[in-house]
Amino acid sequence: MTEEEKKTIKKGWKIPLFDLSFGKEEKEALLSVLGTNWITLGEETERFEEEFARYVGTKYALFFSSGTAALHVAYIAAGIKENSRVLVPSYTFVSTITPLIWQGADIVFGEITNEENLNLSYKELDKDQFDFAVFVPVAGFMEGLSEFADLCRKKEITLIEDCSHAHGSTLNGKKCGTFGKVGVYSLYANKNMTTGEGGMLVTSDKEIYKEAKLLRSHGMTHLAYERYKKDYMMYDIVRIGYNYRPTELQAAIGRVQLKKLDSMNQKRKRLVKLYRELFSDIEEVKIPFWDIEHSSNYIFCILVPQEKREQVIKGLAEQGIQTSWHYRPVHTFTAIKEKLGAYTLPLTESVAYREITLPLYPDMDYEMVKEVASATKDLLRK
Ligand SMILES: Cc1ncc(COP(=O)(O)O)c(C=O)c1O
Repeated sequence: MTEEEKKTIKKGWKIPLFDLSFGKEEKEALLSVLGTNWITLGEETERFEEEFARYVGTKYALFFSSGTAALHVAYIAAGIKENSRVLVPSYTFVSTITPLIWQGADIVFGEITNEENLNLSYKELDKDQFDFAVFVPVAGFMEGLSEFADLCRKKEITLIEDCSHAHGSTLNGKKCGTFGKVGVYSLYANKNMTTGEGGMLVTSDKEIYKEAKLLRSHGMTHLAYERYKKDYMMYDIVRIGYNYRPTELQAAIGRVQLKKLDSMNQKRKRLVKLYRELFSDIEEVKIPFWDIEHSSNYIFCILVPQEKREQVIKGLAEQGIQTSWHYRPVHTFTAIKEKLGAYTLPLTESVAYREITLPLYPDMDYEMVKEVASATKDLLRK
């Protein structure tokens, strides 16, 4: 199959929502790990963790098989258990919430700030007595996190950051995952950097790190690699843990992707700036958030009049332009309603049902951005 044929089969879209930026470095890194004959949790993972912790500015980082696995363990290690009262956004991906359900936590959905800032509002912290709160910088924007973290500190609420959109995002010079007790980055295929599947827990709290490390691999005191290196012969099981281990192959790709992250984010930023410029002359398009300079710009979201949303999505699809929805609010999903009961969040719902996510990825070119913006505007003016 030629490179051209591969591309056509892969996309099926003229302009896909997202495309990977993999080069020969990722392939070489994979081959080099295969050559070591050690393919699960080992030195490559340890190096990736050290480099990630250094990049984020935490003392520790722990690599997991997925972001959801890392979140699950972060929640447990932070102390979330049955009946812990946890404030969460509904404007997020479902797996910010699911591990809390597994834990039997008492979950309270909070509202977004306003239509310019889709992050959970700090004002929600005043509405009840919470033990924990989870903050998700939507699309990589950290707007409101500082106020949110300050209020959590004042009220002695343990803050956990789901940084799954925020690889490289900063606020007052600090990266996501450094404002609360523990943070988690998903490294899923469509993130700003990826290991295919994967997640990284970051923290500067030694107890959380030690607990999370145990839980990641069956609650074992000494892992296979330590025994292989003859550091230890036996192990004990001291927690009822999980198998949330990543492979060395994922770590090898992650190390390369981490090196490229800042430059990939710069490319995203340039594209987002162009998108914003192109939409500046159309009243019907509102673009949430403002600090693109310090955002990872994970996705490009626009808000359109609700009655026109469907026609725009369909019209773009007909022209080969893929779109997505970030997000259908979590509290509206069937299984979530069955589990947690009916909820109403008027602001979250009104914004969500106006949202369209347009294509964005580092290797997209300016012409593609112009085509998407112009097609969107034409459809809105119909
Ligand atoms: C906000 C958010 N949280 C958690 C996750 C879960 O990550 P993963 O798919 O790596 O399990 C994602 C992934 O898409 C996400 O966007």
